[in-house]
Amino acid sequence: MKFFVDTAEIDAIAELNDLGMVDGVTTNPSLILKSGRDILEVTREICALVDGPVSAEVVATEADAMIAEGRKLAEIAPNITVKLPLTWDGLKACKVLSGEGKMVNVTLCFSANQALIAAKAGATFISPFVGRLDDINLDGMDLIADIREIYDNYDFDTEILVASVRSVNHVTESAKIGADVITAPPGVIKKLADHPLTDKGLDAFLKDWAKTGQKIL
Ligand code: G3P
Repeated sequence: MKFFVDTAEIDAIAELNDLGMVDGVTTNPSLILKSGRDILEVTREICALVDGPVSAEVVATEADAMIAEGRKLAEIAPNITVKLPLTWDGLKACKVLSGEGKMVNVTLCFSANQALIAAKAGATFISPFVGRLDDINLDGMDLIADIREIYDNYDFDTEILVASVRSVNHVTESAKIGADVITAPPGVIKKLADHPLTDKGLDAFLKDWAKTGQKIL
Protein backbone atom coordinates (compact mmCIF):
# COMPACT_ATOMS: atom_id res chain seq x y z
CA MET A 1 0.00 0.00 0.00
CA LYS A 2 1.33 3.41 -0.96
CA PHE A 3 1.54 6.27 1.57
CA PHE A 4 0.68 9.78 0.44
CA VAL A 5 1.05 12.68 2.87
CA ASP A 6 -1.97 14.94 3.17
CA THR A 7 -0.35 18.32 3.74
CA ALA A 8 1.22 21.35 2.06
CA GLU A 9 3.83 21.77 4.83
CA ILE A 10 7.23 21.36 3.14
CA ASP A 11 9.18 20.54 6.32
CA ALA A 12 6.77 17.76 7.32
CA ILE A 13 6.89 16.26 3.81
CA ALA A 14 10.71 16.41 3.75
CA GLU A 15 11.01 14.71 7.16
CA LEU A 16 8.82 11.75 6.12
CA ASN A 17 10.38 11.65 2.65
CA ASP A 18 13.82 11.13 4.23
CA LEU A 19 12.35 8.07 5.99
CA GLY A 20 11.10 6.62 2.70
CA MET A 21 7.47 7.02 3.81
CA VAL A 22 6.31 9.33 1.02
CA ASP A 23 4.99 7.79 -2.19
CA GLY A 24 3.08 10.96 -3.04
CA VAL A 25 1.39 14.06 -1.62
CA THR A 26 -2.18 15.35 -1.58
CA THR A 27 -3.24 18.93 -1.03
CA ASN A 28 -6.57 20.74 -1.11
CA PRO A 29 -7.67 24.39 -0.77
CA SER A 30 -7.98 24.06 3.03
CA LEU A 31 -4.44 22.69 3.31
CA ILE A 32 -3.09 25.49 1.07
CA LEU A 33 -4.82 28.01 3.37
CA LYS A 34 -3.27 26.32 6.42
CA SER A 35 0.21 26.50 4.86
CA GLY A 36 -0.12 30.24 4.21
CA ARG A 37 1.70 29.69 0.90
CA ASP A 38 0.96 30.54 -2.74
CA ILE A 39 -0.52 27.43 -4.40
CA LEU A 40 1.71 27.47 -7.49
CA GLU A 41 4.88 28.16 -5.52
CA VAL A 42 4.35 25.59 -2.78
CA THR A 43 3.14 22.92 -5.21
CA ARG A 44 6.28 23.44 -7.34
CA GLU A 45 8.44 22.96 -4.23
CA ILE A 46 6.58 19.77 -3.26
CA CYS A 47 6.95 18.37 -6.79
CA ALA A 48 10.70 19.02 -6.69
CA LEU A 49 10.98 17.17 -3.38
CA VAL A 50 8.79 14.14 -4.07
CA ASP A 51 9.01 11.78 -7.04
CA GLY A 52 5.47 10.39 -6.79
CA PRO A 53 2.11 11.96 -7.67
CA VAL A 54 1.33 15.35 -6.10
CA SER A 55 -2.36 16.25 -6.09
CA ALA A 56 -3.26 19.91 -6.65
CA GLU A 57 -6.96 20.80 -6.59
CA VAL A 58 -8.90 23.02 -8.97
CA VAL A 59 -11.31 25.55 -7.49
CA ALA A 60 -13.53 26.24 -10.51
CA THR A 61 -16.91 24.51 -10.47
CA GLU A 62 -17.76 24.54 -14.19
CA ALA A 63 -16.11 21.95 -16.47
CA ASP A 64 -14.38 24.24 -18.97
CA ALA A 65 -12.88 26.38 -16.21
CA MET A 66 -11.84 23.23 -14.32
CA ILE A 67 -10.09 21.96 -17.43
CA ALA A 68 -8.25 25.29 -17.86
CA GLU A 69 -7.17 25.29 -14.19
CA GLY A 70 -6.18 21.63 -14.43
CA ARG A 71 -3.99 22.29 -17.47
CA LYS A 72 -2.29 25.19 -15.67
CA LEU A 73 -1.64 23.08 -12.56
CA ALA A 74 -0.33 20.21 -14.72
CA GLU A 75 2.28 22.57 -16.21
CA ILE A 76 3.96 22.82 -12.79
CA ALA A 77 5.63 19.40 -13.06
CA PRO A 78 5.17 15.98 -14.68
CA ASN A 79 4.13 14.41 -11.35
CA ILE A 80 1.13 16.73 -10.84
CA THR A 81 -2.18 14.97 -10.35
CA VAL A 82 -5.13 17.24 -11.06
CA LYS A 83 -7.65 16.96 -8.25
CA LEU A 84 -11.29 17.43 -9.23
CA PRO A 85 -14.49 17.26 -7.16
CA LEU A 86 -16.98 14.47 -7.73
CA THR A 87 -19.63 16.43 -9.62
CA TRP A 88 -20.77 15.94 -13.23
CA ASP A 89 -18.63 18.95 -14.20
CA GLY A 90 -15.70 17.41 -12.36
CA LEU A 91 -16.22 14.10 -14.15
CA LYS A 92 -16.43 15.85 -17.51
CA ALA A 93 -13.11 17.55 -16.74
CA CYS A 94 -11.74 14.17 -15.58
CA LYS A 95 -12.63 12.59 -18.92
CA VAL A 96 -10.91 15.38 -20.87
CA LEU A 97 -7.79 15.70 -18.72
CA SER A 98 -7.24 11.94 -18.36
CA GLY A 99 -7.70 11.71 -22.15
CA GLU A 100 -4.77 14.13 -22.46
CA GLY A 101 -2.65 11.72 -20.41
CA LYS A 102 -2.78 13.73 -17.17
CA MET A 103 -3.19 12.00 -13.81
CA VAL A 104 -6.52 12.85 -12.18
CA ASN A 105 -7.62 12.40 -8.56
CA VAL A 106 -11.41 12.60 -8.14
CA THR A 107 -12.09 13.83 -4.62
CA LEU A 108 -14.98 14.25 -2.18
CA CYS A 109 -16.27 10.73 -2.84
CA PHE A 110 -18.81 9.47 -0.31
CA SER A 111 -20.58 6.59 -2.10
CA ALA A 112 -19.77 3.47 -4.09
CA ASN A 113 -21.77 4.74 -7.06
CA GLN A 114 -19.71 7.94 -7.11
CA ALA A 115 -16.57 5.79 -7.19
CA LEU A 116 -18.02 3.69 -10.03
CA ILE A 117 -18.73 6.69 -12.27
CA ALA A 118 -15.32 8.25 -11.48
CA ALA A 119 -13.64 5.06 -12.70
CA LYS A 120 -15.73 5.13 -15.87
CA ALA A 121 -14.66 8.76 -16.42
CA GLY A 122 -11.01 7.67 -16.39
CA ALA A 123 -9.91 8.73 -12.88
CA THR A 124 -6.38 7.69 -11.94
CA PHE A 125 -7.33 7.89 -8.24
CA ILE A 126 -10.63 7.99 -6.37
CA SER A 127 -10.57 9.68 -2.96
CA PRO A 128 -13.27 8.37 -0.58
CA PHE A 129 -13.31 10.42 2.67
CA VAL A 130 -13.55 7.89 5.50
CA GLY A 131 -13.22 10.25 8.48
CA ARG A 132 -16.04 12.51 7.32
CA LEU A 133 -18.34 9.47 6.94
CA ASP A 134 -17.42 8.36 10.47
CA ASP A 135 -18.25 11.91 11.61
CA ILE A 136 -21.90 11.40 10.59
CA ASN A 137 -22.12 7.95 12.20
CA LEU A 138 -21.56 5.97 9.00
CA ASP A 139 -18.65 3.56 8.61
CA GLY A 140 -16.06 4.99 6.23
CA MET A 141 -14.24 1.67 5.97
CA ASP A 142 -17.40 -0.08 4.69
CA LEU A 143 -17.23 2.26 1.71
CA ILE A 144 -13.61 1.29 1.02
CA ALA A 145 -14.54 -2.41 1.07
CA ASP A 146 -17.47 -1.77 -1.31
CA ILE A 147 -15.31 0.17 -3.78
CA ARG A 148 -12.58 -2.52 -3.65
CA GLU A 149 -15.18 -5.19 -4.51
CA ILE A 150 -16.71 -3.17 -7.35
CA TYR A 151 -13.37 -2.19 -8.90
CA ASP A 152 -12.13 -5.79 -8.69
CA ASN A 153 -15.36 -7.13 -10.25
CA TYR A 154 -14.67 -5.12 -13.39
CA ASP A 155 -10.88 -4.78 -13.32
CA PHE A 156 -11.00 -0.98 -13.14
CA ASP A 157 -7.47 0.51 -13.05
CA THR A 158 -8.55 3.45 -10.87
CA GLU A 159 -6.63 3.35 -7.60
CA ILE A 160 -8.47 3.63 -4.29
CA LEU A 161 -6.85 6.52 -2.39
CA VAL A 162 -8.29 6.47 1.13
CA ALA A 163 -8.61 10.09 2.30
CA SER A 164 -9.78 11.91 5.42
CA VAL A 165 -7.70 9.41 7.38
CA ARG A 166 -7.78 10.40 11.03
CA SER A 167 -6.37 7.41 12.91
CA VAL A 168 -3.86 4.59 12.70
CA ASN A 169 -6.82 2.18 12.66
CA HIS A 170 -7.94 3.68 9.35
CA VAL A 171 -4.49 2.76 8.00
CA THR A 172 -4.67 -0.84 9.27
CA GLU A 173 -8.18 -1.34 7.92
CA SER A 174 -7.24 0.16 4.54
CA ALA A 175 -4.32 -2.26 4.24
CA LYS A 176 -6.50 -5.25 5.22
CA ILE A 177 -9.11 -4.34 2.62
CA GLY A 178 -6.44 -3.85 -0.04
CA ALA A 179 -6.78 -0.12 -0.72
CA ASP A 180 -4.08 1.03 -3.13
CA VAL A 181 -3.11 4.21 -1.29
CA ILE A 182 -3.83 6.05 1.95
CA THR A 183 -3.29 9.76 2.34
CA ALA A 184 -2.85 10.85 5.92
CA PRO A 185 -1.68 13.90 7.85
CA PRO A 186 1.99 13.65 8.97
CA GLY A 187 0.89 13.19 12.60
CA VAL A 188 -1.05 10.02 11.78
CA ILE A 189 1.84 8.54 9.78
CA LYS A 190 4.27 9.26 12.62
CA LYS A 191 1.96 7.50 15.10
CA LEU A 192 2.27 4.25 13.11
CA ALA A 193 5.57 3.52 14.90
CA ASP A 194 4.11 3.98 18.39
CA HIS A 195 3.46 1.09 20.79
CA PRO A 196 3.57 1.31 24.61
CA LEU A 197 5.20 -2.13 24.83
CA THR A 198 7.98 -0.96 22.50
CA ASP A 199 8.66 2.00 24.83
CA LYS A 200 8.48 -0.20 27.93
CA GLY A 201 10.72 -2.88 26.43
CA LEU A 202 13.32 -0.37 25.26
CA ASP A 203 13.38 1.28 28.68
CA ALA A 204 14.05 -2.10 30.35
CA PHE A 205 16.81 -3.00 27.87
CA LEU A 206 18.56 0.35 28.39
CA LYS A 207 18.41 0.04 32.19
CA ASP A 208 19.94 -3.47 32.05
CA TRP A 209 22.56 -2.30 29.55
CA ALA A 210 23.64 0.51 31.88
CA LYS A 211 24.20 -2.10 34.62
CA THR A 212 26.63 -4.05 32.38
CA GLY A 213 28.99 -1.05 32.29
CA GLN A 214 29.79 -1.92 28.65
CA LYS A 215 30.00 0.29 25.54
CA ILE A 216 29.55 -0.64 21.88
CA LEU A 217 31.44 2.41 20.57
O1 G3P B 1 -7.57 14.24 1.74
C1 G3P B 1 -8.73 14.87 2.19
C2 G3P B 1 -8.52 15.29 3.60
O2 G3P B 1 -7.66 16.36 3.66
C3 G3P B 1 -9.76 15.58 4.34
O3 G3P B 1 -9.48 15.29 5.66
O4 G3P B 1 -9.75 15.36 8.07
O5 G3P B 1 -10.46 17.32 6.64
O6 G3P B 1 -11.77 15.21 6.62
P1 G3P B 1 -10.41 15.83 6.80
